[in-house]
Amino acid sequence: MDAWHIGVIGGSGLYDGLDLEDGQEIAVSSSFGEPSGPVTTGKLGGVRFTFLSRHGAGHRFSPSSVNYRANIDVLKRCGVTDVVSLSAIGSLREEMAPGHFVAVDQFIDRTEGRERSFFGAGMVAHVSLADPVCARLSALAADAAQAAGAEVHRGGCYIAIEGPQFSTRAESRLYRQWGADVIGMTAMPEARLAREAELPYAVLGMVTDYDAWRDEAAGVEAADVFATMKANAATARAAMVVLAGRLPEDRAPVPADTALDGALATAPDARE
Ligand code: ADE
Repeated sequence: MDAWHIGVIGGSGLYDGLDLEDGQEIAVSSSFGEPSGPVTTGKLGGVRFTFLSRHGAGHRFSPSSVNYRANIDVLKRCGVTDVVSLSAIGSLREEMAPGHFVAVDQFIDRTEGRERSFFGAGMVAHVSLADPVCARLSALAADAAQAAGAEVHRGGCYIAIEGPQFSTRAESRLYRQWGADVIGMTAMPEARLAREAELPYAVLGMVTDYDAWRDEAAGVEAADVFATMKANAATARAAMVVLAGRLPEDRAPVPADTALDGALATAPDARE
């Protein structure tokens, strides 16, 4: 019987992690450099959870300086089976209001210069990213957030920008025309790397603001983002407790578990 082990990457405002039973802090090293910090591993209702704060203690890493490869590698080394990202997002749609949660299902990647693959010289792989989010995990996370009292939108296209500045009004309007629904700075390349690591991945985004597209409104202020995030952190934590209680007894396989099957381009005798 295959057991669940949920990895949770906590974004802005979720530095304190989850209230895990028998929580243990462990520094895990990665061959891809320094992760954002130690992980905390423990249990919620009998299910193993391992938490990693994306921006590190005291919010030391900007979206551009997070070592996404090391973070995903560390979760993989811990034996995590599935990864839930709890992240602050801006809204590009009127109906996705601050305080709401969005279970993201697509991405547009506008980040620049971030390490976005575990593969390269010596070993080439091309994984499919058509469906970048695990539908099962996303639905479970959305159901859990709803049961925890959140207003949840199921599905939404997340545009990842490099930051650290928020967008201009012209950019924000352009992203709406492209079909993006929410905006953030961190889910890419995280989603790419999770797929390469054969880790099913889902983003439960917490809307902290309307991005700059609304004529009459002020632009985005970081202080508002952090305040809304703080107010929502308890709901996000409660959602993980509900999730733990609702996971099916046995973890049946999903396509992301075997994303590398057939994806390696390098011939076996040429692999380093
Ligand atoms: N994170 C939270 N709100 C955001 C916004 N408006 N733009 C980019 N990242 C964000």
